[in-house]
Amino acid sequence: MDLASETRAVIEFGPFRIVPHRRELLADGQPIRLGGRSFDVLMALIEGQGAVVAKETLMERVWPNRIVEENSLHFQIAALRNAFGADRDLIRTISGRGYQFTGEIRTVAASPDMQAVTRTALQAPAPPRPPTNLPEPVSELIGRDVEIDEVLGLTATQRLVTLTGAGGIGKTRLGLEVARRLLPEFADGVWIIELAPLSDPDLVPVTVATEFGLDLAGGAVSPERVANALAAKQLLLVLDNCEHLVGAAASMAEAVLRANPAARVLATSREP
Ligand SMILES: Nc1ncnc2c1ncn2[C@@H]1O[C@H](COP(=O)(O)OP(=O)(O)OP(=O)(O)O)[C@@H](O)[C@H]1O
Ligand SMILES: [Mg+2]
Repeated sequence: MDLASETRAVIEFGPFRIVPHRRELLADGQPIRLGGRSFDVLMALIEGQGAVVAKETLMERVWPNRIVEENSLHFQIAALRNAFGADRDLIRTISGRGYQFTGEIRTVAASPDMQAVTRTALQAPAPPRPPTNLPEPVSELIGRDVEIDEVLGLTATQRLVTLTGAGGIGKTRLGLEVARRLLPEFADGVWIIELAPLSDPDLVPVTVATEFGLDLAGGAVSPERVANALAAKQLLLVLDNCEHLVGAAASMAEAVLRANPAARVLATSREP
């Protein structure tokens, strides 16, 4: 173990502690699960030392040399506020401009100065683009900005989000758009499972297993077995067109969410 690095600066505010060189956030000593991008946003806000950090500055910092939608930033801010729980006001929105970190920061004993440490944390190379089986859009999406924002906001706080509505209303299209925008947030990617062609509920877990190339030889392929095989992955599963297999789709979603704290599910269905 590198003892020198273990004694580097930590940053504290309220009940929270950040260990920059380990890219770790703790609340009352307990680690909080936080994505890499959320951590980068948090560090950039803290480095602002109470000043308003412009949206553009944050986006350039967190996604250098990449063009991303502002929604990606909204998602990260929502995830951070979620992580802060009752202290969600630690990040204040300055409408039309950016965000401000309102916490009172204490830097705790360290030999190297904190700025050097935080710079190191921020200069970690950007992770590669996560894998996905999402199709490229074949036509331009019309409107839906409000709905996209709303669903992105929901996915930041809810682990299972279901889009319901009449046939042809645009659930799949909206789900795919949201899923594409969320791709950078899931290290193991975003995976769409097309349920429309399936008639047998037992085929739901089989289809998921096939899509991920899981080797589940021997015994029945249950939602639990598939979920356990995916338990370590940080992924978003999109279950599209669940209406005719609502029970099987719900079992699959529940199994994945139960086995895997980092997983999220986005479903579309004509039936709630
Ligand atoms: N906002 C949009 N902009 C452009 N095209 C759209 C939009 N929303 C839906 N469409 C198109 O309308 C058609 C129906 O949409 P979609 O398949 O998303 O509906 P759905 O609600 O999933 O229907 P179903 O219940 O039958 O699965 C598709 O061809 C889709 O590309
Ligand atoms: Mg659909």
